[in-house]
Amino acid sequence: MQRAVTDRIATAADDRAELIAGLRAERATIAPKHFYDPLGCALYAAICATPEYYPTRTEAAIFAGHAADIVARVGAGRTLVDLGAGDARKAQWWIPRLRPAAYVGVDYAAAELAAALERLDGAFPDLPLSGVVTDFGRGLDLRADLPPGDVAFFYPGSSIGNFAPDDALVLLRSLRAHAAPERRASLLIGVDTHKDARRLVAAYDDALGITAAFNRNVLNNVNALLGTAFDPAAFRHVALYDESLRRIEMHLEAAHEHVVLLDGTPRRFAPGERIHTENSYKYAPQDFARLLRRAGFATATWWTDAAGDFAVFHAA
Ligand SMILES: C[S@@+](CC[C@H](N)C(=O)[O-])C[C@H]1O[C@@H](n2cnc3c(N)ncnc32)[C@H](O)[C@@H]1O
Repeated sequence: MQRAVTDRIATAADDRAELIAGLRAERATIAPKHFYDPLGCALYAAICATPEYYPTRTEAAIFAGHAADIVARVGAGRTLVDLGAGDARKAQWWIPRLRPAAYVGVDYAAAELAAALERLDGAFPDLPLSGVVTDFGRGLDLRADLPPGDVAFFYPGSSIGNFAPDDALVLLRSLRAHAAPERRASLLIGVDTHKDARRLVAAYDDALGITAAFNRNVLNNVNALLGTAFDPAAFRHVALYDESLRRIEMHLEAAHEHVVLLDGTPRRFAPGERIHTENSYKYAPQDFARLLRRAGFATATWWTDAAGDFAVFHAA
């Protein structure tokens, strides 16, 4: 019963301009949404299987251990909106339990989203499915796209940590703004917690080098998007934890001088110069509950594993 995917990406030109400006900046950046070309998606799935990357299996254990309670709070018959759906495996686990009236996948990665919808269609042929390709980095407004009735946003995997707390607040407020007299809007979200820096860094710098490959691969995607000639092998993967900001940072560090042409103009990366590719903010559960309340949610309930490594929130 799959319906068409709506493409909300303004224009490829806007994306190019943003990428080029980020790469020309004195402190070069690439937004993490550019990780997810098909190889990037496959590498992300492999990261989730590494021994060091505890968030995925801890979140899954919290889901399994508290499923009945979570289902009771979310309620059946809602439209399930899967934010950063990726391969939609987590939503696929929840659909038979939450019995949504419809599923809407939202992702910047159009190819991954189309493949996920295809798979869900095979698994749940009677469920209305649709997709929205968009960048929700500055908030999300799906009010014109949603069928009537209550909505449950689902944002797993601690992806909210990619946004600085003020930007996370903008996104959370925009989700809350879908609530109206005729529509309840709730949120089920996975959040990684602040913990020992060594464990955090190991989760983003696994022994097999899969996260390093994931990080370097962003340059392949940049080459495809901009026609540049970045050599991924010329950059070293760096993962560090900034205790004061409570965030993991991922960077690509030039091993030696590297010059690329950006729209015909050379950009020189000096040895040791870094391109900042990702932040992943970590929260104490009480702090994230405060953020949800600031976003306008009246209630925030959370579940954690015994070690407190990860938290799953339901906000309504
Ligand atoms: C870390 S993966 C998580 C996939 C899956 N939800 C999970 O938890 O395993 C992040 C997903 O969010 C998407 N994404 C990242 N930044 C985005 C943005 N600014 N707007 C929309 N989607 C984004 C990526 O394309 C990717 O599919």
